[in-house]
Amino acid sequence: MAEDNNQTTRRQHWETVYQTKPVEQLSWFQKDAGMSLRFVRQAQLPDKAHIVDVGGGTSVLAGVLLRENATWSISVLDISAASLHHARASLGDLAHRVQWVEADVTQWRPDFAADLWHDRAMFHFLVAEGDRKAYADTLRTVLRPGGHAIIATFSLHGPTQCSHLPIVRYDASTLLAAIGDGLTLRDQCVMQHQTPSGKVQEFQFCLMQRV
Ligand SMILES: C[S@@+](CC[C@H](N)C(=O)[O-])C[C@H]1O[C@@H](n2cnc3c(N)ncnc32)[C@H](O)[C@@H]1O
Repeated sequence: MAEDNNQTTRRQHWETVYQTKPVEQLSWFQKDAGMSLRFVRQAQLPDKAHIVDVGGGTSVLAGVLLRENATWSISVLDISAASLHHARASLGDLAHRVQWVEADVTQWRPDFAADLWHDRAMFHFLVAEGDRKAYADTLRTVLRPGGHAIIATFSLHGPTQCSHLPIVRYDASTLLAAIGDGLTLRDQCVMQHQTPSGKVQEFQFCLMQRV
């Protein structure tokens, strides 16, 4: 599908970020994915579950999940080819066990169903209502009934920008409302993320389930 200007600009922004800045200096960098793993465990996924990490970037989550359960099937989707290239290289021998998907989530037409949707710090960049609706439609298309979604955004006390882009801040109820019908909130928490430069950013994590 052809990209509009908005999507091209978005892609170029993220390509530049990942091509010009060391991963360990990105504000969202974390050495482990502890809070995500806590909610993944809570979802009690079966063997052979399919997990998609949306806007996964260079996150360590894919490797963490493969070590948690070797039967799980992991897809990492990102708009930036450079981020996927880096993530793939850092996974070494495990990289072939991951499906790498270069796509804009607002345009993505998945060809598989997932048991778990994970998104840390991607959804909050969607400041246009049409993009948020496209995201929610995709989520509902890919997530099986009964499947879980873990979505983390900046909280109402978090920063108003990330990577020099405006973001939308959420608490659990506004996030659930933004994602729309068909999901129910199972758990939520706020956490303080320490950036590599020592700043603290408050995140809202939500565990939702498709009903
Ligand atoms: C703040 S980073 C978070 C990366 C990762 N989830 C983590 O926790 O380390 C946001 C990520 O979302 C990706 N992204 C931004 N907009 C996107 C879109 N519309 N579709 C897919 N990925 C997108 C960016 O390339 C970037 O990797």
